[in-house]
Parts: sequence; structure tokens; C-alpha cells
Amino acid sequence: MRFFAASALLSLVVSCGGSQPPPEPPPAPAPTASGPASPEAPMATADAGMAAPAPSAKRSGWSIRPHFRRIFVGSETPFALVVMGVSGSGKSTIAEQLAARLGWRYVDGDLFHPPANVAKMSAGHPLNDEDRWPWLRAIAAEIDRLAAAGERAVVACSALKRAYRDILVHGRDDVRIVFLDGTKDLIAKRLAARKGHFMPPGLLDSQFRTLEPPQASERPVTVSIDASVDGIVDDIVRQLELVAP
Ligand SMILES: Nc1ncnc2c1ncn2[C@@H]1O[C@H](COP(=O)(O)OP(=O)(O)OP(=O)(O)O)[C@@H](O)[C@H]1O
Ligand SMILES: [Mg+2]
Repeated sequence: MRFFAASALLSLVVSCGGSQPPPEPPPAPAPTASGPASPEAPMATADAGMAAPAPSAKRSGWSIRPHFRRIFVGSETPFALVVMGVSGSGKSTIAEQLAARLGWRYVDGDLFHPPANVAKMSAGHPLNDEDRWPWLRAIAAEIDRLAAAGERAVVACSALKRAYRDILVHGRDDVRIVFLDGTKDLIAKRLAARKGHFMPPGLLDSQFRTLEPPQASERPVTVSIDASVDGIVDDIVRQLELVAP
């Protein structure tokens, strides 16, 4: 799969330096959930400033058009985007659509919990930070692994606290935080309408209490979730300057 994604990405490279208009590429590969073979997805997520990228004097790179939109891939293009926010803010929905738009891999952070965490959550016990460190380190290792293989990824992970995000970013300039910002009222309505998920009462309140919105020093991309999924994805792509000039 990794080989396929890499070769698909390469097959979408249609210009270097952006001087030639690219021919129509084949459709981008469908996003692939990335995660270890086990454990299975847990029952529920337990933890549950806008900053523009530095403008480059002259952009050079590849233009690709997954889904017939031209996406810019230059030397400053991040290798991973961590889509974060409280439960119900739309992490899975947005990260998956964003990955599809960019032709990058979709990584569901929940799939990286060690078995002990899955067992704990399945028994209805909340995780503490000691439980979370190995989980977050596993996601960071996956980002490293994919980047070393030349693959870009969009990672859905609540990452509510700065300390969690610091593990995910682990000093890499090419890992960017995307914060899904919304009101408790709006998110509560979306959670109430969400099918197939049990939402323990009080979880949303506790998520907002835990949330440490990213600070400017984290260079986050902050997007309002009070928009359509397409509109939110557009906003992220625009803020990250992933649209070809
Ligand atoms: N922009 C949007 N407009 C309307 N509905 C949305 C939007 N984004 C997400 N939703 C809906 O809101 C609900 C919550 O979204 P989603 O499951 O992606 O959130 P999440 O942050 O991944 O939650 P969790 O942390 O529990 O995994 C879903 O039913 C989804 O379809
Ligand atoms: Mg989710």
C-alpha cells in the first residue's frame, strides 16, 4: 500500500517548478486508514491564533491535482497535519476529506492505542496522562516512519493539551497543527445527531475543560467548524498555501 501511495503520488507529479500547466492526472487514490494491525478502534476517545506559514520568497515545487484541484507540494509543504479538537469537532470527518483532497494518507490516531489502553477504555475507565504517553509516541513514530518513506499524512487526534501536541510534533517543523475551533453548542448538536456513537453525558464539558487551545508559538492553523466540510477543507488548504499559485 505504501508503495502504491508513493507511486500514485509520483504519478500525479506533473510539473516541477510550477512553470508548465499540468495535464489532467488520474484520480487520486482513496485515503487509506493507517494504523497498526491491532488493536481495533477503541469504543470512545478517552481524552476526550491563527498563524500563517512563513511566506517563501519564491515558491518552487510540484503541482499535483488530486480530485482535479491543483495542490502545491513545495519544499515547505508539511509532511503531516495533525487535525485536533474536542470530541465531535469533526476531526475524523475533516481529516479524511482533507487527506482525500490532498491525496495524502489518512491516519486515525485512535488506532495507535496500546492494548492496555483499549482494555481500560473498554472497561469504562478514563485514561490518565501516563496511559497517553505511549499512545502519542506511537503516533509520532508513525509520522516519522511515513515521512522517511516520503509519504505525507493527515492525522486525526484530539491532542487537547500542549504536552500531547509537543509529543506529536516532536520538534519537526514539517508537522503542523490544525485546530478545529467551534462552540460547545454547535458541537453538542452535531454529537446529538451523530449515529453509531455513544456519548457519555458530561464528556463534552470535560473535553472543553481539558482543552488548551494551541498557542501562536505552535504555528497552528485555526479553522472555524461553523462551515460545510468542503468549506473547512478549503480554509485549511488555503491557510497552508497548498493551493498552486
Ligand atoms: N462541517 C460539518 N458540518 C456538519 N456536520 C459535520 C461537520 N463536520 C463533522 N460533522 C458531523 O459531526 C459529527 C462529529 O464529527 P466527527 O465524528 O468527525 O468528530 P470527531 O472530532 O472525530 O469526534 P470523536 O473525537 O468523537 O472521534 C459527525 O456526525 C459528522 O458527520
Ligand atoms: Mg473521530
